[in-house]
Amino acid sequence: MSKPLEGIKIIDFTHVQAGPACTQLLAWFGADVIKVERPGSGDVTRNQLRDIPDADALYFTMLNSNKRSLTLDTKTPEGKEVLEKLVKESDVLVENFAPGALDRMGFTWERLNELNPKLIVASVKGFSDGHHYDDLKVYENVAQCAGGAASTTGFWDGPPTVSAAALGDSNTGMHLAIGILTALIGRGQTGRGQKVAVSMQDSVINLCRVKLRDQQRLDRVGYLEEYPQYPHGEFTDVVPRGGNAGGGGQPGWVLKCKGWETDPNAYIYFTIQGHAWEPICRAIGKPEWIDDPNYNTAQARQPHIFDIFATIEAWLADKTKYEAVDILRKFDIPCAPVLSMKEIANDPSLRASGTIVEVPHKQRGSYLTVGSPIKFSGLKPEITGSPLLGEHTDEILSELGYSKDQIANLHASRSV
Ligand code: COA
Repeated sequence: MSKPLEGIKIIDFTHVQAGPACTQLLAWFGADVIKVERPGSGDVTRNQLRDIPDADALYFTMLNSNKRSLTLDTKTPEGKEVLEKLVKESDVLVENFAPGALDRMGFTWERLNELNPKLIVASVKGFSDGHHYDDLKVYENVAQCAGGAASTTGFWDGPPTVSAAALGDSNTGMHLAIGILTALIGRGQTGRGQKVAVSMQDSVINLCRVKLRDQQRLDRVGYLEEYPQYPHGEFTDVVPRGGNAGGGGQPGWVLKCKGWETDPNAYIYFTIQGHAWEPICRAIGKPEWIDDPNYNTAQARQPHIFDIFATIEAWLADKTKYEAVDILRKFDIPCAPVLSMKEIANDPSLRASGTIVEVPHKQRGSYLTVGSPIKFSGLKPEITGSPLLGEHTDEILSELGYSKDQIANLHASRSV
């Protein structure tokens, strides 16, 4: 099976999560991704939260599959020379250093463009260029707070809350991948590379689009009818936290199922789609609600939506989350069990689709990781283990034309 990105060489100057998630995706689709790491230490995640002494941590292995690792000190003259050779032969350089780090290393956009005018230089930063916070170092939760996710997530009587989903990190990496692929197509038209930049704040804001919608609706009418605060609670002039309410105009909530007292995930998400009202009433044994004017429109239901959810919870009391979904799916009701990570890790459907994959690793034996969420008819990405630190250094140097003696000298000078 051909891999669409075969022949594309990427210098992966990334670390932690946002950048590595981007380059890993491109590696799955066939790009030759060369991870450039500092000799001796490498990407900080190799050592973070280790579960096996002396073996690369899962944080690293799960974000760096299908790559090759080159150790290189890009602050020594010899290391800079190697990077320059690599730049001349590559299609893309991806980095997510702190603001200004690449410039301080001597590799400004102008310099890189001079070395290889076809090179695409792709960067992740916390804030976009010119933003009043553009000098800040940024991690996941900082971006979630600066991007509007935290202020709109959680319960109304609690503080702003961050999501477990990596909205600031991996999400930004996915945005960057789209930018890189666009620039590659653009290069096919113009013959020139360009700079591609994505900020973590912007990527979070892009996912909080409907909350900006709500802010404008609130400014105009003073309330938001699909939020739990309506009609009994109060609105201020900012979009409130809506708990587990559905964001798209379909009321929904997380509801308890059998066993919730001891199992923290014995819940389903239940959605009350307007046109599904009749099947919902039939499913939960309340046919008398179908035509009742207190219930038969979304507007009539909203004032007592939590009483309706309580009735559905009473119906769920003797059903496990799986039994409940098996009944509700027959009525075409959008719902799902709340799944724990343990259930996801062992889900046969996710294993069969390649979304959860077990990958061999030289130190660890094998480990579970998340495979490609994107499925193709003509490509089945094969996920391979992450590289050991510097595993491919000599191989890559010899591809760049270095002789055995020259490679030995580079090792001796500790530049690789
Ligand atoms: N050889 C020599 N030096 C190297 C090197 C190599 N192979 N790789 C990195 N370095 C140097 C950098 O040049 C930098 O040196 P300088 O500060 O003297 O210029 C130094 O290592 C540290 O890099 P930095 O990016 O500042 O790391 P940090 O650990 O201090 O900060 C982040 C980490 C993630 C906060 C920061 O990189 C950042 O804000 N990145 C942008 C946003 C982002 O991606 N956040 C993380 C999302 S998961």
